[in-house]
Amino acid sequence: MSRLTDHAAADAIAAHHVELSGDIGRRVDALVATVRADEPYEDAKREVLDYLDRELLPHAAAEERALYPAGEQIPATAALVRAMLDEHRRIVATVDRLRVTTDAVGAATSASAVLALFESHLAKENDFLVPALVADPEVELGVLLEGMHALVG
Ligand SMILES: [Fe+2]
Ligand SMILES: [Fe+2]
Repeated sequence: MSRLTDHAAADAIAAHHVELSGDIGRRVDALVATVRADEPYEDAKREVLDYLDRELLPHAAAEERALYPAGEQIPATAALVRAMLDEHRRIVATVDRLRVTTDAVGAATSASAVLALFESHLAKENDFLVPALVADPEVELGVLLEGMHALVG
């Protein structure tokens, strides 16, 4: 990937968030549907978890390396970033709850909670953190994202 301008980088982050939430949403919907139909849910649960392990958790880890340190340096977003790190911890804990749950209702509720937490989290990233990074003349968002496939797909 060649270096992106700040605005192209912001667009790429937002587009990747759309992709992640759509992919997670479809898998969670499928899991909830099997539970509602009283069908075996284990395969649908595994589909959700595999995706979270393969895409969502690496995405959060990459943000903590590439994006959040820059946000912590900006006074206006330092507290926001701390709260968002907290949300990452809560998302990871909810993914772990899904991992260890051994019943259908637990799987459906944990998976739905991951989706809801992630959607409200990514809205903060798109609407507050990324615009602040783009607006800061010291931050070169395109440079921060170089090679970060977990952030831009
Ligand atoms: Fe995040
Ligand atoms: Fe994100």
